[in-house]
Amino acid sequence: MRAGKTIAVSAMISLSGALMSAGAALAEDVKPEAVKFTDMTVADSLTGKPGDAAAGQKVVVDRKLGNCLACHEVSALKKELFHGNVGPSLDGVADRWKPAELRAIVTDSKQVFGPETVMPGFYSLNVGVNVRKDLVGKTILTAQQVEDVVAYLETLKE
Ligand code: HEC
Repeated sequence: MRAGKTIAVSAMISLSGALMSAGAALAEDVKPEAVKFTDMTVADSLTGKPGDAAAGQKVVVDRKLGNCLACHEVSALKKELFHGNVGPSLDGVADRWKPAELRAIVTDSKQVFGPETVMPGFYSLNVGVNVRKDLVGKTILTAQQVEDVVAYLETLKE
């Protein structure tokens, strides 16, 4: 059931050829409740393969997916209209955090910043109390999208 839904969702949101890779990746994806956090890091890829930075950039700017710019500024994405300042600028973020830390932050920010953070956990079922009923049991991003976002963040070096 879940796998079927995940395929449907990723088909809708990434029309650009990700379909086939999503199908291939699903068998190996770590389930959100099974992600292993060790000292505020997630060492292993959630999909067993590397992310795609270009795809990750699309997820970061997409208002219905990452929507990261609602809270973060990214100078490299200046052409996007609105950048919020609720969170720190992501410029140079790859110099401040290792990939395994970035994966932990994007997967479930609460594991790194604590339960009070306003940043959503993008691959967590523990998203808070005010979740729309139809979203219960779903993650905001797929495992592949998390890996793609992490790959994109890795490009943000000073
Ligand atoms: C609702 C606001 C919000 C959204 C949306 C959001 N974040 Fe955050 N983020 C924060 C806040 C606030 C912090 C600082 C930690 C804290 O105070 O909780 C943070 C911290 C971070 C950090 C650590 C930055 C540093 O330099 O220390 C990274 C990396 C990050 N966010 C990535 C992302 C990505 C990638 C997305 C989109 C997939 C995203 N965030 C979406 C609010 C947000």
